[in-house]
Amino acid sequence: KQVVILISGRGSNMEAIARAGIPGVRIAAVISNRPDATGLEVARQLGIETRVLDHKGFDTREAFDAKLAELIDSFEPDLLVLAGYMRILGEAFVRRFEGRMLNIHPSLLPAFTGLHTHRRAIEAGVKVAGATVHFVTAELDVGPIVIQAVVPVLPDDDEAALAARVVVQEHRIYPQAVRWFVEGRLQLTDGRVHLLDART
Ligand code: GRF
Repeated sequence: KQVVILISGRGSNMEAIARAGIPGVRIAAVISNRPDATGLEVARQLGIETRVLDHKGFDTREAFDAKLAELIDSFEPDLLVLAGYMRILGEAFVRRFEGRMLNIHPSLLPAFTGLHTHRRAIEAGVKVAGATVHFVTAELDVGPIVIQAVVPVLPDDDEAALAARVVVQEHRIYPQAVRWFVEGRLQLTDGRVHLLDART
C-alpha cells in the first residue's frame, strides 16, 4: 500500500511510521507545507521522496488545498497520514480523502481539541493525558477514533515534560493504526471504528 505523510515540523511520528517497517507499506512521499520543517531532512535520510508545498504562495485555502490534493494524488496513495500537520484542511479536501486519512492528536479526544493541549490539560488538573489516532472528518480533531494511549499527568509536570511522555506513546500507536488500516481491519460504521479480527 502506498502511504503519503503530511508534516509541518519535526516529523517524529512520520519517522516512527517509516521505521516501523510495516509489511506491505511503502511511504510514497512526505509532503510539508513548510519549507523549513526539520522532518523533511529526516525523511530524505530515510530515502523517502519529499515535497514542499508552501501555503504562503496561495491566496485562498481552497486554492492551496486543490494544489495539495493534486500533488498527493500524483502518488496514488491508499492512505494519507497527517503527522504534526498544522494546517486546517478545507471541506472539499477532507471529503476527497475521507475514510483514508488519519491524524494524531496529543490528547484523549474528545477532550482538549485544538492547540496547546498539554498546557490546557495541566491547567485543568486532569490526572491522565494521552494521544488519539482518528480518521479525519470535516470538524477539527473530531472523527472516528482508531486507537488511544494513556499516560499519567505527574504533579511536577510542565508542558514539555508531559509532551515528552505523550509523544513516546504517539510513536507506538500511530504505526499500529497504520498497520491496522493497511491490513484492512478498520471498519467504519455509524461514525465509529471497529477493529476486525486479523485474517489468519
Ligand atoms: C505531535 O504531538 C502530534 O500529536 C501533534 O503535533 C506533534 C507533532 O510531532 N499533532 P512530530 O512532528 O510528529 O514530531
